[in-house]
Amino acid sequence: MDSSNPGTTVLLALLSVLLIVWFFRSKRPQYGRLPPAPPALPIVGNMFQMNIKAPHKSLIKLNKQYGPVFTLWFGSTPVVVLCGFATLKEGLIERGYDFSGRYLVPILQKISAGYGIGFSNGERWKQLRRFSLSTLKNFGMGKRSIEERIQEEAQFLVTAIRNKQEIPFNPDFLMRCAVSNNICSIVFGERFEYEDERFLTLMERAEGISRALSKPGVQIYNNFPKIMDFLPGPHQKIFQNIAGLKTFVNQMIQSHRDSLRKDFPRDYIDSFLNKMDEEKHNPNSEFTDENLLMSVVNLFLAGTETTSTTLQWAIQILVKYPHIQERIYQEICEVIGSCRRPSIEDRAKMPYTDAVIHEIQRYIDLVPMNLPRMATKDVEFRGYLIPKGTLVITLLSSALKATSHWETPESFNPNHFLDENGCFKKSESFMAFSAGKRMCLGASLARMELFLFLTTLLQNFVFNSVIDQKDIDISPAASGIVVIPHVYEFCAISR
Ligand code: HEM
Repeated sequence: MDSSNPGTTVLLALLSVLLIVWFFRSKRPQYGRLPPAPPALPIVGNMFQMNIKAPHKSLIKLNKQYGPVFTLWFGSTPVVVLCGFATLKEGLIERGYDFSGRYLVPILQKISAGYGIGFSNGERWKQLRRFSLSTLKNFGMGKRSIEERIQEEAQFLVTAIRNKQEIPFNPDFLMRCAVSNNICSIVFGERFEYEDERFLTLMERAEGISRALSKPGVQIYNNFPKIMDFLPGPHQKIFQNIAGLKTFVNQMIQSHRDSLRKDFPRDYIDSFLNKMDEEKHNPNSEFTDENLLMSVVNLFLAGTETTSTTLQWAIQILVKYPHIQERIYQEICEVIGSCRRPSIEDRAKMPYTDAVIHEIQRYIDLVPMNLPRMATKDVEFRGYLIPKGTLVITLLSSALKATSHWETPESFNPNHFLDENGCFKKSESFMAFSAGKRMCLGASLARMELFLFLTTLLQNFVFNSVIDQKDIDISPAASGIVVIPHVYEFCAISR
């Protein structure tokens, strides 16, 4: 055949496309009876149907077209998406074990290699999860409770904000330091001064990782990891920051080893080292150096970024809606007053504040697509067969913004969590921390932090905007794994 002939070239191109389509089609039958899927292109799959700046929005659209369970193709990888409260309840809670795996998309695989609580599976995950939950509980620890640590840190935060002397500033950095110090205190046994050079580097790394994970470049890495490994982009920044973070954590672990007293564990690292020693003759033990390092990295990042980003959103929303800020202050005056520190017991007597915090979490929809899950076995689900190992996206956003469950799902409305008597009203559709066996391990810590930090801040300050409240944009600035707010400066006026 003469390939210089234009007709032949077209024929060859057509043949190549057909071959590629056939290749991918021929691979699909091994994927069981997957739920319906929008038409996909060879090689790229449905990639071009995704809004790269807000992928969860594309999934919501597809949900309307294809129903609550559908498939997408990311390249030649099938992804099953579960949408809507009823489907999520069934998938995450009632069939909790079936989808309790963590799917390691290439970027997570590269960062964690499957070690640590957040990114492990099977027996490893079970052992680490059980240990971490009970250790975090114990680090109320009889000596100083987690509540006391948060209360103390909230006072440090108040002092740092007061030092700004009511001039406009961006509170994000100080809030990130305060939140991070809670997890540092639990994991490393110490808090850091906000000016400490080592701490500043840690904060930069944590922020760098979280910002980069919300950039579209990461999706490109996940689709073409082998090529992207050699190219510049936000993924390279993530790898550098993770490497720096691991070096820091390794130094901390070494200094804990040097000063360990078996009968007096000071923190999570000491408890883990003790457990490693206890299990040193057990060949199946998952209490290893790699799991210690990655579990600490997981706790540090998960514990710092999520709660502090929620607080950033909270301040913006309260500045935008000063009447809501004022109503919380009234509740603080009635229940706590101005002389004593807020405590977690107050929450039950402060339904309005509790409702606002829940509504902030619902409205901001911080982790809209949840962390990637995986089918742990071949799963029969609503007439489909989802093979073991399939990537499953549980679209938390579809529960947090469900029109069937919320009166005004797209607008900020604390009444979503209040009954007609003004009492706090729970909602099953509130899945900000996900649900089921793999639900956020730090949910109760995070809830405690949000309540204590916000009430302490509002007890001491009124937050005002330097621009017109109407111009504060409370829609996301970036969406990826986490949804990030815009950046503003505020004045904190002392009460
Ligand atoms: C507002 C704050 C927070 C939000 C919205 C949040 C949300 C989430 C979500 C959606 C997941 C994924 C759950 C799933 O796969 O179904 C998760 C997992 C996790 N979170 Fe949080 N989180 C928050 C705070 C924290 C804190 C303070 C910690 C620190 C202890 C923490 C530690 C973890 C860990 C270790 C996992 C992995 C659990 C596992 O894979 O078994 N989180 N979180």
